Amino acid sequence: MRSFLMYLGALAVIFGLMQFIPTYEKSNPPVEISKEIKVPKEVMAIFKRSCYDCHSNETKWPWYADVAPMSWVVRRDVIQGRKALNFSTWEEYSDTKKQELKKQIFRSVEFAMPLPQYLWLHKDAKLSKEDKEIIRNWASDGKGYIESVIR
Ligand code: HEC
Repeated sequence: MRSFLMYLGALAVIFGLMQFIPTYEKSNPPVEISKEIKVPKEVMAIFKRSCYDCHSNETKWPWYADVAPMSWVVRRDVIQGRKALNFSTWEEYSDTKKQELKKQIFRSVEFAMPLPQYLWLHKDAKLSKEDKEIIRNWASDGKGYIESVIR
């Protein structure tokens, strides 16, 4: 019994110390409407529901974004997600970059996005077949397919 309590105590201390390990900043930079992506309503609804937490400056931070070790994962996903694609600053991308991102979006909805660890706790973010079609249709400018990139 005593060793069990010591074990628990040690875990609690480790958990406590983990809270002091510095991690990514948790922030929501200001949103300028003029820079935000403009897409049809039905596309926006899906982006807001399934992508905005990691790909915009309007992240709804969950409580566990303040508790290590979950905070490490959540904050990293948001920082790296924004770096890869930020719908809040879409209009700052060049036309070439936008086209490239649209191709990546087309591909990512197949199964890569939203990230599985996110879907775990956000079941409603999962894309239905119809959602994927709506996004693909937008991302391919109505064509429904994309040319593969050959470099
Ligand atoms: C839990 C956070 C999270 C959510 C939610 C999320 N993403 Fe991502 N996304 C990321 C991260 C992190 C990366 C960067 C991956 C990397 O750099 O390897 C990324 C990268 C991307 C990329 C860049 C290319 C690629 O595939 O790496 C695209 C496109 C993308 N996401 C689209 C989306 C779309 C569309 C949605 C909504 C349907 C979405 N993501 C939802 C975290 C997320």
